[in-house]
Amino acid sequence: MAVVGNEIFQRRFDKVNSIIEKHGGKVSNLIAILQEIQAEYRYLPEEVLTYVATALGIPPATVYGVATFYAQFSLKPKGKYIIKVCDGTACHVRGSEKLRYVVREKLGLDDSKDTTDDLKFTLETVSCIGACGLAPVVTVNDREVYGQLTPEALSIILDQLVAKEKSSDGTSGANSDADADADADADAAIDSTRAAGTDVPGKGC
Ligand code: FES
Repeated sequence: MAVVGNEIFQRRFDKVNSIIEKHGGKVSNLIAILQEIQAEYRYLPEEVLTYVATALGIPPATVYGVATFYAQFSLKPKGKYIIKVCDGTACHVRGSEKLRYVVREKLGLDDSKDTTDDLKFTLETVSCIGACGLAPVVTVNDREVYGQLTPEALSIILDQLVAKEKSSDGTSGANSDADADADADADAAIDSTRAAGTDVPGKGC
């Protein structure tokens, strides 16, 4: 692996360096390297792609070519929570468009903006995730799967995520008893939509 830049620059990319080294600094592992970098940054920053190219001793165009070829890679920053609304046939027929509308309304997103300014939330529309029996389906960070979801239940889920983030940012105080009761009601509503287990189902329906 080539030595890149000065010490400060190197330190900034320590994590990237360790990922590259873990993969032996091999060009043949470029996709795996980019996958791990994206997991770290939640997207592929331009300067990191250039750094990877230099470190692997290949033209930046090669790295950009791979990063832009595969749909799994994003060159745009993504939110902490990636909300995927399935718009496959079964989900579409059962109201996925209304769910997308709720997410956009709640989070201030539109056709030209799929990530909130605070980088907390990203909305993605995906094709069938293989859980048509649960349609319409929404996932959060590919871990939480919500099936047979109504716009009202999705609204509660989003409210809870927003409140959780505000709380972790220290911008809201402790819950009152009334809030706690409301949270309990919301949890009950959400539990009724949460699919068994937390893994996203496999493809195909
Ligand atoms: S169409 Fe949405 S899970 Fe199959």
